[in-house]
Amino acid sequence: MSVDGRAGPADARPAGAGGRAPFRPRLYAPGPVAVPPAVLEALARPVVHHRTDAFRATFQRVRAALAEVLEVPGDDVMLLTGSGTTAFEAALIAAVPREGRVLALRGGKFGDRWATMARTLGYRVSEHDVAWGRAFDVDGLRERLAGGGPLDAVTLVHSETSTGVLHDVAALAEVVRDHAPDALVLVDAVTSLAAAELRPWAWGLDAVVAGSQKGVMLPPGLGFAWLSERAWARGRAQARDGGAGGRAAAYTLDLHRERPRQRQGDSGTTPATSLVVAAEVALDLLLAEGLARRRAALDRRNRALLAAGAALGAEAFAERVSPAVAAMTTPEGLAAPAVVRALADRGVRIAGGQDHLAARLIRPSLLGHGDDYDAVVLAAALEDAWRDLGRAVAPGAAVAAAMAVLGS
Ligand SMILES: Cc1ncc(COP(=O)(O)O)c(C=O)c1O
Repeated sequence: MSVDGRAGPADARPAGAGGRAPFRPRLYAPGPVAVPPAVLEALARPVVHHRTDAFRATFQRVRAALAEVLEVPGDDVMLLTGSGTTAFEAALIAAVPREGRVLALRGGKFGDRWATMARTLGYRVSEHDVAWGRAFDVDGLRERLAGGGPLDAVTLVHSETSTGVLHDVAALAEVVRDHAPDALVLVDAVTSLAAAELRPWAWGLDAVVAGSQKGVMLPPGLGFAWLSERAWARGRAQARDGGAGGRAAAYTLDLHRERPRQRQGDSGTTPATSLVVAAEVALDLLLAEGLARRRAALDRRNRALLAAGAALGAEAFAERVSPAVAAMTTPEGLAAPAVVRALADRGVRIAGGQDHLAARLIRPSLLGHGDDYDAVVLAAALEDAWRDLGRAVAPGAAVAAAMAVLGS
């Protein structure tokens, strides 16, 4: 048990740098995130059965609340047991014909993942790349589409968590509509949902997926998928065609099988009932706070983190910053994994860099439950980590930089 009475993996390694008192575990990663106490309380309620009217009603309210967060009409958001990746796979299979032509926009780990997934599922995949840390520009995509053949779908990531870039999905989708009008636009909104402006309906997107352990502040375990009527119709037509024009094989991930059930508050397999119950609480909290207010708060806190890092000589990595994560390169000679470890010694869990960015990138995030002062705590912890690693830091330098943003 830790000093605040919580048991669990966060306590497995006593946090107590330099012989100081143990620290409270703090989760400041871009998912999973800290969840509000009311959500923890809901998770602790007795387990309910899913084939009951009461649970069906909860299931429907959660789907409707997700539609509200996504700003799409109706309540037809698919609720899946799994994660964001599960939801992306299901959406891809539901909308794109077997052996269909997919253009994957890759500017980081998750853009890569969708290309690999599509290839694994037997699609004919081509790529349009941008360097990690850069944002896709509309002219580059326009050129790419002008030079390419017909396409069934384009995959893109809204908030590329591996680089901290928020790609301009609205503008990119418009280019696809103009230059490849038959291509469906499939969007990974895993860390942009409830964090950045996201309007699938208004922007003409065809599929948007996310997961529970990010901006909606739940534990991991649920995937969300919304599809446009155009995408649903495409999938239905493929099922009728059968043969080469049919859909890729799926059973539990077959959203066409699942959709009529979910419209009745049911699902084909046993859903993660406790997470669904908690989702209602989490989404109520989010909607009560107000999406615009929440997004503004996350943006402010993220800018405060970047300012704190800048005061310590770290540089913002993203060309176009996502409010979900403050990706920063550490100063020359300061290894990012050492920073992550030094913070962990103080109970603070952030994410490091992935793949070729492992040595120099740190990715703290305030996407979860918290307030402006969490940015100040994280700034103080960064200062301490820098000092632990032998860097001279003027006391309060990062804290002051964070406070200046929060107060402005
Ligand atoms: C942008 C993005 N896409 C996809 C994923 C994968 O989601 P999951 O781990 O929920 O399958 C993540 C997870 O961090 C993510 O940040």
